[in-house]
Amino acid sequence: AAAIEVDLTTIPEGKNAVFTWRGKPLFIRHRTQEEIAKAQSADVSALRDPQSDAERCQNEKYLICLGVCTHLGCVPIAHAGDWKGYYCPCHGSHYDTCARIMKGPAPLNLEVPKHEYLDEGTVIIG
Ligand code: FES
Repeated sequence: AAAIEVDLTTIPEGKNAVFTWRGKPLFIRHRTQEEIAKAQSADVSALRDPQSDAERCQNEKYLICLGVCTHLGCVPIAHAGDWKGYYCPCHGSHYDTCARIMKGPAPLNLEVPKHEYLDEGTVIIG
């Protein structure tokens, strides 16, 4: 399946943009300073699927993840839930601002696909 190139400069700060990649929804979120700080301050060792913000976001400004809940595959809603990251309305999974599972039935964080920055404003997914 093809890789896609995304011009990140088209995504305003605070917005969660939705693309389609390999037939699935792909989220690219241009995070605010507050959203970055919240994700970076989490106690990683206490998480269900322990990953640091830096492991998930090569460039802290952008979160790139699949919009597919790791419970049964619904599309989570951005900027919703107790952590204002993502909320899956199907069975109530709450994700934080780097899309790590915090509460609810989902077993894993939203998947971060392989991606590579060509420069500060351009990323290749896949
Ligand atoms: Fe998301 Fe069940 S599919 S909580």
